[in-house]
Order: sequence, then structure tokens, then C-alpha cells
Amino acid sequence: MLIEPIHTGMYRKLFRAVEDSRGFLEPWLPWVPFNDSPEASLRYAEACEADWSVGSALRLSMRFRDDAEIVGVITLESCSDLHRHCDLGYWLRKEHTGKGLMTEAAGRVISFAFETIKMHRIRCAAAEENAPSRRVIERLGFVQEGVAREAERVKSRWMTHVVYSLLSTDPLPPPPRP
Ligand SMILES: CC(C)(COP(=O)(O)OP(=O)(O)OC[C@H]1O[C@@H](n2cnc3c(N)ncnc32)[C@H](O)[C@@H]1OP(=O)(O)O)[C@@H](O)C(=O)NCCC(=O)NCCS
Repeated sequence: MLIEPIHTGMYRKLFRAVEDSRGFLEPWLPWVPFNDSPEASLRYAEACEADWSVGSALRLSMRFRDDAEIVGVITLESCSDLHRHCDLGYWLRKEHTGKGLMTEAAGRVISFAFETIKMHRIRCAAAEENAPSRRVIERLGFVQEGVAREAERVKSRWMTHVVYSLLSTDPLPPPPRP
């Protein structure tokens, strides 16, 4: 799995990845209805470049080594140099779920966050009913902190979040089962 920063050269592939899984992503991600054209993906890619250049967010695409199509996206948002804190987010194309890909990719991005850019705390929140996402977060060793009531509005539906965090000093999760 190759994980590389999103840049404007990949905006068409980015749009295709969203478009192909739109119905799967829409119930969980509030931005999906607004990502409604290749031009919207281009604006997103431009923001990714600008935010990474000032260190405020790092957004990465995932793809297989022998295939240029984007499989998913994983992000470190709201990076704070002062507090050494950021928020983890992610999504996959529907056909690539159920293979442990996000657990692997997120594990690598978390190592980068702690070891290379010296983050101390990573927060991750998922809707209470988003079982696959919560399973990924818990498998990565995140600790549940609490519940944020009606924290997000997705397609006119209020979603209550379960909030987790991982500290650079927390014990590593057990290795994945073979
Ligand atoms: C969240 C997401 C990235 C996880 O993808 P993934 O790594 O392929 O996850 P899986 O499909 O392997 O599921 C992860 C775990 O949840 C479990 N799971 C899946 N559906 C479930 C359900 N309906 N109820 C309970 N557990 C479920 C799986 O069994 C798996 O656990 P296991 O490996 O211990 O058996 C993917 O589902 C996705 O992109 N969802 C839409 C976008 C999204 O929700 N993003 C996150 C917002 S917080």
C-alpha cells in the first residue's frame, strides 16, 4: 500500500474514488454531498497542498503499488504545533473495506505522526453507530474518552460521536491476528 500526500495532479482520481462509493460514504461524512464535481476535488486538493505547506493538516491518498486508482484517504487534521495534537480521519472505497487496509494505513500514519512530526496526542471520533470505524479505532489502541452529543450533522441527521485519543506514551496495541 502506497500512502502519499494528496496533490492537485490526482484530483480526477480523487473524485472518481468518491463518486464510485458515494452512497456508502454519504451516511458518515458530511462533506460528501459538496464533493459533487471534479472541480470540487481540485479545490480540495489545492487546500491539501496549502494546508500541508503551513503544517496545519496532512491529507494522504492510499493506493496499491501496481494500480494508480485511489483506494482511500487518511488525514491528520487540525495539527497544532503548540499542543502537538491532531485529529485522525479516513475513508475507503466500499470495495476495499473488510480487508484490514485502514487499520494498516492508519497504523503507519500514526507512527509518522508520533515519530516524525512529533505529535503527542491524536484524537479520533466516530458516530456511535459506525461500528466498522469504531472497531478500527479500538484495534489501533485508542482510548475512549467520552461522548460528544449531536456533534455533527450529516444529511439532516444529528450524529453523536464517541471520542477517542491515543498518546505517544500509550502502550502499543497487540499485533494483529494472522
Ligand atoms: C471505517 C472504514 C474506513 C473501515 O474500513 P475497514 O478497515 O475495511 O474496516 P472493516 O470493514 O474491516 O471493518 C472493521 C471491523 O468492523 C467490523 N464490522 C464491520 N461491520 C460491522 C457491523 N455492522 N457491526 C459490527 N462490526 C462490524 C468488522 O468485522 C471488522 O472487525 P474485525 O476485523 O475485528 O472483524 C470504512 O468502513 C469506511 O470507509 N467507512 C465509510 C467512511 C467512514 O465511516 N469513515 C470514518 C468516519 S469516523
